[in-house]
Amino acid sequence: MGFFADFIPRTGDKGLTKWAHYFEVYERELTRFRREPVTFLEIGVFRGGSLPMWKEFFADGSTLVFVDIDPECKAHEIPGTHVEIGNQADPAFLASLVEKYGPFDVILDDGSHVCAHQIASFNGLWPHLDKRGVYLVEDCHTSYWPGFGGGYRNEASFIEFAKRLVDKMHSWYTDQDGLFPFDQMARVLCGVRFYDSIVVCEKSADPEPPVSLFIRNGEVSGSRKALEIRNRSSVFSGKDGR
Ligand SMILES: C[S@@+](CC[C@H](N)C(=O)[O-])C[C@H]1O[C@@H](n2cnc3c(N)ncnc32)[C@H](O)[C@@H]1O
Repeated sequence: MGFFADFIPRTGDKGLTKWAHYFEVYERELTRFRREPVTFLEIGVFRGGSLPMWKEFFADGSTLVFVDIDPECKAHEIPGTHVEIGNQADPAFLASLVEKYGPFDVILDDGSHVCAHQIASFNGLWPHLDKRGVYLVEDCHTSYWPGFGGGYRNEASFIEFAKRLVDKMHSWYTDQDGLFPFDQMARVLCGVRFYDSIVVCEKSADPEPPVSLFIRNGEVSGSRKALEIRNRSSVFSGKDGR
């Protein structure tokens, strides 16, 4: 398991609370962020065990920000980290984080796990995730628990919110404008990955419409005609039909 298998036997007295299968997800999703200093934000400090873990995981010079609603969590701050106290569902608090530390390369929501809070944090912070950055929401099994604002197929749950993001990401391709209109999220969302209890949303590198390639004899030609014929030309004005 690489970094985490090595780190766990060396943990100190600050408690770390994660489901066992999350470490493999971190390896898959976050290893590429280790090469250069990044700006990382984790919501949820609790006993502080993730601070030394992420400090060692990310490159020296990274900006590592941790948030909790409990003022006592400030005591878990260690050199090279910042602990900010506030409510993850408060837009003004989120805006203050963005102002002070943004934009972010990686955002990890391990806070209250209340669906409405997860959605409020996503809405407040996603616009401030950098290109190619990832936004991870943990413990999404609470989307199946009414006590957390979830319940099977409850429209208000985070899992249902994330499923709707999948539709928005594909809204370039719609030819049912009335039923399924183009959504600007398509420009900035290039992947939604569902793991057991973790949803990962990835920011696009490029907000332009996708291009279909035809490749032969080493020559490449690109076209957006497949989108244009579905009456999406208003969205792609000046860029269609190449
Ligand atoms: C699951 S624990 C965090 C675990 C920690 N990330 C770790 O890896 O060990 C959840 C934390 O979220 C905090 N929390 C609960 N509601 C919150 C809210 N509305 N805003 C910010 N933090 C919140 C709790 O105080 C608690 O410390």
